[in-house]
Amino acid sequence: MAGIIIVSNLNYQYPDGTTALRDVSFDVKEGETLVIIGANGTGKSTLFMNLMGVLDGDGHIEIMGLRLTKTNKKEIRQGMGMVFQNPDDQLFCPTVMDDVSFGPLNLGWDNDRAIVASQEALALVGMEGQGSRTSHHLSFGENG
Ligand SMILES: Nc1ncnc2c1ncn2[C@@H]1O[C@H](COP(=O)(O)OP(=O)(O)OP(=O)(O)O)[C@@H](O)[C@H]1O
Ligand SMILES: [Mg+2]
Repeated sequence: MAGIIIVSNLNYQYPDGTTALRDVSFDVKEGETLVIIGANGTGKSTLFMNLMGVLDGDGHIEIMGLRLTKTNKKEIRQGMGMVFQNPDDQLFCPTVMDDVSFGPLNLGWDNDRAIVASQEALALVGMEGQGSRTSHHLSFGENG
């Protein structure tokens, strides 16, 4: 079965010269759950930011059959998301629904479609009916 995420020989160096990823290769198949663990500073966040096209490393990244390039990030991001390490950095809208629908609305979806998709997304993580709550009243775990 083809990998839903394929990473081959990925390297990333920050502008100050710090090498954060060196020759990283792995793949994740449909239905698989992959946990990436490592000591602080070993490059986990850097890896995920490369998968999302926030950072542009050298190497091959393929998401759902599409090779990640500078021009198709928007398309790829419609099928994949990244949760920030610190949820307080990620949530900035007054209500949970405003926050969850921020992404779809920024993709240009109309309001009704964004609300329906956001309600489905909340239900998937056991947060159905919580859309009208104030974001900063959520517990740390509920935030994440
Ligand atoms: N903007 C940056 N400029 C220079 N070096 C950076 C930058 N961001 C991270 N680094 C360095 O890159 C390496 C990988 O950092 P990264 O944040 O990916 O690690 P991590 O595995 O996510 O760590 P943690 O478990 O602490 O979240 C570390 O050596 C870090 O100091
Ligand atoms: Mg990190």
